[in-house]
Amino acid sequence: MRVICVDNYEQMSQKAARMVASQTILKPDSVLGLATGSTPLGMYKELIKSYEAGHIDFEEIISFNLDEYYDLDKDNEQSYDYYMKTNFFNHINIKNENTNIPNGKADDILKEAMDYERKIRDAGGLDLQVLGIGRNGHIGFNEPDLKFEASTHMVRLDEQTIKDNSRFFDNVEDVPTKAISMGVKTIMHAKKIILLASGKEKADAIYEAIYGKITPNLPASVLQLHPDVVFIVDKEASSRLDVDKINKEFL
Ligand code: PGA
Repeated sequence: MRVICVDNYEQMSQKAARMVASQTILKPDSVLGLATGSTPLGMYKELIKSYEAGHIDFEEIISFNLDEYYDLDKDNEQSYDYYMKTNFFNHINIKNENTNIPNGKADDILKEAMDYERKIRDAGGLDLQVLGIGRNGHIGFNEPDLKFEASTHMVRLDEQTIKDNSRFFDNVEDVPTKAISMGVKTIMHAKKIILLASGKEKADAIYEAIYGKITPNLPASVLQLHPDVVFIVDKEASSRLDVDKINKEFL
């Protein structure tokens, strides 16, 4: 594990975008695992800038998103399908048929989950997975639980997550209570993982993910076992860490 501590959100976004850009340059047909939420928005903006400047090309890139709310229409402005189109896909040359987001409206969610796993496998697995982290330590929508859920699955959202995500909705009652999410094994099978965190409300989750016991009660802690994971954290999110010491220990 490597931890890169940067000053602020802008620097975090730039670093993350450079890593994703490098991946697309080194392997133009990379399979990218993508995240939503506030955290990666700056990274997407940076990637769009690089694309517009002609530095990177998404023609052959395949993407799989981590998760989607259950039972929200794709054109609902809070759906992750809508988020990805408006914040990223519509501004780059990725092929629509190469972008994958779990279908939260599927009649048979179990089948949708199994099909999603198969599609990831058929594409050759994830080369690079981008993650955010919840205040409760969730990755994707893998919420604190008694066990790690391995594969793509239906999730009941944690109260904390519903509260946190209510900022995007008119009322807390409008936040879906369920979602479909890649599982922990799906994420852990990515060849490389970068996790982004910004803001003081993430400091405890970041501390526990790095130093804490590996437990499904803090899903991001499982990343301690991944062979190639980089945390990019801003000053506030890394406020509980001794970053120099960590880099020496984990490199
Ligand atoms: P946020 O969400 O980027 O909106 O803080 C992160 C997450 O829940 O993974």
